Amino acid sequence: MPDVVVVSPIGDVDRLEVRDLSKSYGGVRALHRVSTVFRRGFNGIVGDNGAGKSTLMRIISGDIQPDTGQLILNGKELHLRSTADARRAGIESLYQDLALADTLDVAGNMFLGREITRNFLGLRLLDKRAMVRAAERTVASVNIQIPEVSRMVRTLSGGQRQAVALARAIYFNAPVILLDEPTAALGPKETAAVLGLVEQLRANGKLIIMVSHNIPQILDIADHLIVMRSGRIVKEVDPQSTSQEELLGFMVGSRT
Ligand SMILES: Nc1ncnc2c1ncn2[C@@H]1O[C@H](COP(=O)(O)OP(=O)(O)O)[C@@H](O)[C@H]1O
Ligand SMILES: [Mg+2]
Repeated sequence: MPDVVVVSPIGDVDRLEVRDLSKSYGGVRALHRVSTVFRRGFNGIVGDNGAGKSTLMRIISGDIQPDTGQLILNGKELHLRSTADARRAGIESLYQDLALADTLDVAGNMFLGREITRNFLGLRLLDKRAMVRAAERTVASVNIQIPEVSRMVRTLSGGQRQAVALARAIYFNAPVILLDEPTAALGPKETAAVLGLVEQLRANGKLIIMVSHNIPQILDIADHLIVMRSGRIVKEVDPQSTSQEELLGFMVGSRT
């Protein structure tokens, strides 16, 4: 693991269960009674566009609330009203639009909502220098080059943004990490670097859930794979014993 100070060890998570989750948008049933158990290691989610993958991820990340159903982390029911709630429970999410605040710099993003403070004559002040130092050390420990931690996040490339979000997950030692198509907008080199970081997190006993469109890639790296279609989980497979053709068949419904 990178040599960084871990400020809020939350403990390991062996099991994240979703039970009977449903979510509709007007007449559109985005999720319909989805139940499964994610375990420590790399959990992949695949499915066609509109299958409900992002809706499921957003519910687990606290970004949206389900109409019905439960989230159970290590046997304890979670009630997440926001992504901040989820982070406090140890769930970090990385996805393109929500993960970072564009108008903050790298350090500001890493510590958003969990700022390091110091005492000054009885006042609690933000310790900017400590945050910059911690951000620099953490960023240096991930494999993607980020110019300076004072750079506005909106000036960074897609891969660099993902690296910032991953650095945050690493710094706070998040036991659960959600990734919704993290490499969709990245070039081959950045993709390899991001996947390398995820691999490092897996090797350190994290519970990772990743949505991917890249069938060969997800078959290669996942420990467990879930197939979604029309708002439901239609299949759970062992990537070791599943071919690309079989997986595509489950995704489009020509196989059951
Ligand atoms: N905020 C929203 N408002 C209305 N419909 C939505 C919203 N988010 C998702 N949907 C609909 O829910 C369904 C599932 O979407 P989504 O979870 O994004 O699928 P996926 O990520 O698998 O492509 C789709 O039909 C989509 O159009
Ligand atoms: Mg999606």
